[in-house]
Amino acid sequence: MSRRPFSGRTVLVTGHTGFKGSWLSLWLHDLGAHVVGYALAPNTRPSLFKALKLDSLIDSHLGDIRDQRRLSALMRRTRPQIVFHLAAQPLVRRSYEEPSQTFSVNLQGTVNLLEAVRQTSSVRVCQVITTDKCYENPDGRSHREEDRLGGRDPYSASKACAELAVASYRNSFFPQGVSLSSVRAGNVIGGGDWAQDRLLPDCMRALCRHKPLLLRNPRSVRPWQHVLDPLAGYLRLAAKQWARPQAFAEAWNFGPSSSASFTTAQIAQACVTAWGRGTWRQAPGKHPHESAALRLNSTKARRRLSWRPALNTLEAVLLSVQWYKGYYLDPGFDALSCTRSQIQAYEARLP
Ligand SMILES: NC(=O)c1ccc[n+]([C@@H]2O[C@H](COP(=O)([O-])OP(=O)(O)OC[C@H]3O[C@@H](n4cnc5c(N)ncnc54)[C@H](O)[C@@H]3O)[C@@H](O)[C@H]2O)c1
Repeated sequence: MSRRPFSGRTVLVTGHTGFKGSWLSLWLHDLGAHVVGYALAPNTRPSLFKALKLDSLIDSHLGDIRDQRRLSALMRRTRPQIVFHLAAQPLVRRSYEEPSQTFSVNLQGTVNLLEAVRQTSSVRVCQVITTDKCYENPDGRSHREEDRLGGRDPYSASKACAELAVASYRNSFFPQGVSLSSVRAGNVIGGGDWAQDRLLPDCMRALCRHKPLLLRNPRSVRPWQHVLDPLAGYLRLAAKQWARPQAFAEAWNFGPSSSASFTTAQIAQACVTAWGRGTWRQAPGKHPHESAALRLNSTKARRRLSWRPALNTLEAVLLSVQWYKGYYLDPGFDALSCTRSQIQAYEARLP
């Protein structure tokens, strides 16, 4: 990965205490960026943020994305040139329990971020991270960027709203100057995720406790991908935005290859195989609606950014399980050096 334009620049990452934000912050730090983070304290125990001791590597600030004054003051003080906005309530099932909070964090939080960008003249590139779930998804076909936005559950709808806010700010306030894009990736996996109701963390928790893994929807299809694949896409896009601000200020999909549609049961079985033992079975009871199939078409990123996934889905599972096996089974495990060496090995595979 090219160190340009990150080396020596100030990069704000919101959501740096979360799973994707921790991987991204470490990667940016290792590319030579001065990383400023803004998010709530980690809400899982353990957390990747703590395991990596990220607060000793980057300039970490704890605060609510809905606190406009605090966010704007931080940006005025630190003057970032590049912004990645990941802070969000990212869970579908929690969004059914807390719909209002989900909309306020994901929509109003994004508007607050865009307002702060508007008031901070140092910002040249801004990326808002949304999701593959922002599309209206009546038939589970593979979505292109221009497809209709939608979302049935509150999480998906709140991210579609965030997309509309981004498009509105881009057209209204940033026709010149700030290059504002939005990025939509699939279900990411990788070491160090401990969120509730996500397949890999649920799987690892069950396997290390010698319990069977319970799957809510074994037949649902998701665009599974290793966290490093979309992050590499975000970094590549940011570099392009830096070089030609207006040419890349739009929405982008970063999904796995179109042949890589795996069911939840297939991923669970691959985890069990990589772990070396264990079982899974269907969870009893009724569960809130989740889309049966989600697919992303990333032709645009392939053609215009020369981005493509470097890991296939089974490699992604293997790499993730290796990380968790180290964490749970190796008393000498060092999360920082394992995560770093996975990033370096990944970079060596990039064209
Ligand atoms: N993990 C996935 O499979 C996936 C897939 C598609 C999109 N995404 C998106 O990627 C982003 C990161 O997701 P993740 O998997 O790392 O989630 P995560 O839950 O691990 O991290 C969420 C981050 O947002 C922060 N946050 C939450 N509420 C906040 C608030 N009110 N104020 C400030 N910060 C707040 C948390 O502190 C944390 O740093 C999210 O925008 C999510 O919607 C994730």
